Amino acid sequence: MKIVTVVGARPQFIKAAPLSLALRARHEEILVHTGQHYDQEMSDVFFEELAVPLPDYHLGVGSGTHGAQTGAMLSAVETVLQKEAPDAVLVYGDTNSTLAGALAAAKLCLPIAHVEAGLRSFNRAMPEEINRIVADHLSRWLFAPSEVARRQLASEGIECGVHVVGDIMLDALRIHVPRARTRTEVLERLTVRPQEYYLATVHRAENTDDSARLAGIFKGLGALDLPVVMPLHPRTRKRLAEFGIHPHGAVCMIEPLGYLDMLALQSAAACVLTDSGGVQKEAYYLGVPCVTLRDETEWVETVETGWNALVGTDPIRIVDAVKRRATRDDDGSRNVYGNGRTAECIVEILSDVGRTPA
Ligand code: UD1
Ligand code: UDP
Repeated sequence: MKIVTVVGARPQFIKAAPLSLALRARHEEILVHTGQHYDQEMSDVFFEELAVPLPDYHLGVGSGTHGAQTGAMLSAVETVLQKEAPDAVLVYGDTNSTLAGALAAAKLCLPIAHVEAGLRSFNRAMPEEINRIVADHLSRWLFAPSEVARRQLASEGIECGVHVVGDIMLDALRIHVPRARTRTEVLERLTVRPQEYYLATVHRAENTDDSARLAGIFKGLGALDLPVVMPLHPRTRKRLAEFGIHPHGAVCMIEPLGYLDMLALQSAAACVLTDSGGVQKEAYYLGVPCVTLRDETEWVETVETGWNALVGTDPIRIVDAVKRRATRDDDGSRNVYGNGRTAECIVEILSDVGRTPA
C-alpha cells in the first residue's frame, strides 16, 4: 500500500516514531507535516531524537484561528493527496492537523485510518472533541486504544472497522525509556534530585485562555511542598504574559523539552501535574502518580485504576490531591492500553486489506 500520514503537532511526531518505522518495513509511507507546530523544540527535536523519517512534504501552515489554520491545511493536504493518489490516509489523535487530514481524504474518497479512535471527553467546547468525533465518523479503520473506546464507538453506531490495538504512545515509551533513564544530566542541570520535585505541564486552551483557571493552576503549583519543574508550551508562555500572571513559590519554568529529557524528568518525579493527554498516560505507564488539571479526561482508565486524580484548577484541590497522591510504583505492570506492540498490530491489520472485503 501507499499510505500518506499527516502529522503536525508535538504528540503526533512521538506517535509517528514507532508506527512510521513499522509501516515502512512493509509499505510505502509519505509523511506530510502540516507545520501546525514549528518551533525547534516543538517539532524538529522529535525528528532528530526519535529518528522520525523527515517529512516528504512540509506545508508550513503555522498558527492561526481554528478556521484559518484548518482551512489552510485542508487545501494544502488536498494538493498532496491529489498528487500522490495514496491507497489510504493515516491520521493521529485529535488536533486540527488530524481534522484537516481526515476531511481532505474524505472529500477525495480516500480511506482513512484513525489512530486513537473512540476517545471522548463529552465536552464539545474543546476543539479536540470536535476533531476526534469527525475523524472517527469519517474513518475506515478505527484503531482504538481500549475496550472503553471501542464501546464508545459502538454507542455512536460505529462497529465496522474498529480494532482495539492499544496505545501507540506506549510503543514509543517502551522503545525510548531505557535511553531516557540514563539521561540524568537534565536533573543535574535543573538542580533537582529524584523524587524531590514535581513536574508540571499546562497547554489546553480551556486552561490557558481563561485567566481565572490559569491563575488557579499557578496558585496551586506555587503552594506545593516541593519545587515544580515546568516545561512551558509556547501557548502558555504567551497567555501568562498577556494576563500578567507571575508564578510564585518554587515554580521553575523552562523551555519545552525533547522527548528523552521529558521522560527522564517524568520517571524521577514525585508526582506529575498536567492537562496533557499524553503525559497522563506516560505517568501511568511509569508508575508516577498524576494529578490532572482538568474537569474530565478521555483516558478514564487511568482514573479508575486510582493512578490519576482529576482535580480541575482550584488551588486547594490541587494541593490536596498532591498530598493524597498514590504511592509511586516502579513495577511498570499497568497495561490497560495494551502491551506496547500497537504499531505491529496496526500494520498487520492494514496489510490485510487486500485479503478482506472493504
Ligand atoms: C495543539 C492541539 C492540542 C494538542 C497540542 C499538543 C489543536 C486544536 N490543538 O494545541 O490538541 O494537545 O497541540 O501540544 O489542534 N505556538 C508557537 N510555536 C509553535 C506552536 C504553537 O509559538 O511551534 C503558539 C502560537 O501562538 C499558537 C499557539 O501556540 O497560536 C497554539 O498552537 P496551536 O497549534 O494552535 O494549538 P496548541 O495549543 O499547540
Ligand atoms: N512532551 C515533551 N516535551 C515537553 C512536554 C511534553 O516531549 O516539554 C511530550 C510528552 O512526554 C508526551 C507528549 O509530548 O509524549 C504530549 O504532548 P502534549 O502534551 O503537547 O499534547 P497532548 O498529549 O495533550 O495532545
